[in-house]
Amino acid sequence: MKITIGSDHGAVELKDAVKKVLADLDVEVDDVGTFGTDSVDYPDIAEKVCAAVTSGKSDRGIVLCGTGIGISIAANKIHGIRCALCNDVYSAKMSRKHNDANVLAMGGRVIGYGPAEEIVRAWIATEFEGGRHERRVNKISKLES
Ligand code: RB5
Repeated sequence: MKITIGSDHGAVELKDAVKKVLADLDVEVDDVGTFGTDSVDYPDIAEKVCAAVTSGKSDRGIVLCGTGIGISIAANKIHGIRCALCNDVYSAKMSRKHNDANVLAMGGRVIGYGPAEEIVRAWIATEFEGGRHERRVNKISKLES
């Protein structure tokens, strides 16, 4: 699996922590930044990560900002993106099982590294259940057009 990851300045340290988890899971990672503490705009990061997902360059994406809210809102504006802001393992699993979320969002100023690691492990490992959920996801896609 290949993941493109990106964060604004509010979650650079969480990004580094998440990358270690992904490396441990043998997931290939493409990091689109940001790489320092200088202020950047989270929609720009969301756009880069989501472009990699919608183009097929990466299988899924992870977006991070201070709260995870702004970057998840931005990601969900992009055609084909189903971004789930998850601060707990149950939501992370369900976002895959029921929503086929292709982008995970978290907040660097909201959750600790321990919970973030568990969320990422669960989100990577969990598959979409399909069935009645596929019908609903298709209806989400219809809302885009
Ligand atoms: C940046 O200060 C902050 O607004 C951003 O990281 C995020 O929390 C927005 O939703």
